[in-house]
Amino acid sequence: MASAVKRIGVLTSGGDAPGMNAAIRAVVRTALSKGIDCVGIRHGYQGLISGEIFPMTYEDVSGLTGRGGTVLYTARSKEFMTEEGQKRAADNLRFLGIDGLVAIGGDGTFRGARDLTKYGVSVACIPGTIDNDIACTEYTIGYDTACNTAIEMVDKLNDTMRSHERCSVVEVMGRHAGHLALQVGIAASATAILVPERELDFERDVIEKIREAKLGGRSHYMIIVAEGAASAAEIGPKIQEATGVDTRVTVLGHVQRGGSPLVRDRVMASQMGYYAVKALMEGRTNRVICYDGRNCIDIDINEGLAMTKDLDAGVYEILHAVQ
Ligand code: F6P
Repeated sequence: MASAVKRIGVLTSGGDAPGMNAAIRAVVRTALSKGIDCVGIRHGYQGLISGEIFPMTYEDVSGLTGRGGTVLYTARSKEFMTEEGQKRAADNLRFLGIDGLVAIGGDGTFRGARDLTKYGVSVACIPGTIDNDIACTEYTIGYDTACNTAIEMVDKLNDTMRSHERCSVVEVMGRHAGHLALQVGIAASATAILVPERELDFERDVIEKIREAKLGGRSHYMIIVAEGAASAAEIGPKIQEATGVDTRVTVLGHVQRGGSPLVRDRVMASQMGYYAVKALMEGRTNRVICYDGRNCIDIDINEGLAMTKDLDAGVYEILHAVQ
């Protein structure tokens, strides 16, 4: 079927994630293979406004699958929050004959893409954030790599905490969601895992857990805390004061956002890039590419943004049993 779409633009926005480059590559290669031109937009929606738009060729994306970060850069744009900025962005797309936009990022990126649809822009969004906190998809690009980066650091911390019989409080990313903290905490056999989705009772959720572990014969402790749940710098001293256990604080920070994407993110990103172009080609616009646990599907962007997502109940349920 001849595609109604003749030129597709691709951008990355919000916090970067390992695998974004693989998604960019898949978008470009799929578009070119279908006879569709592809342009890259640097610095997200800000670049769309300022016109940082350039043709992307087969060679431009060669070797990107395994590279961390995003070659299109990313930025947060205040100007794009205004109607005037959004209109300028839409006018730039129209002027350059770009009749489909692939936006890769988190829920803020999706909201920005939805704003563009008011000006007649056809969009397809790809979920790229290490937080895995986009409700309409079971998986967001970067999540597995970030979890594995974090667990590698936590395992190293566990070694030295065991040697010194100390308590380690490790703050992981997750401003509004505890998916990463929960996965890493279970994988690390953590003494306690603190997530934004559950109200923190310090005595019950931390001190009591350390007490139980100590009674069980443990002499070193690992507390995983999502940054949206509490500040490791604040609770570390409180633990030491309450328990007398020598406590050390580590904030993993942006190391979780870097690194070469692992296989799951490379493959998921490649699939989502392909399906984003396919949706635009087949006239399904204003869509979000989601992973439903088995396949990549696309759903309406408003429907996707209206959904909510709690922690993985199946994982959270074992939390109190396996510690
Ligand atoms: O959205 C992904 C994320 O890594 C969050 O987990 C984290 O709180 C935030 O980005 C950090 O944002 P920035 O890179 O702008 O400091």
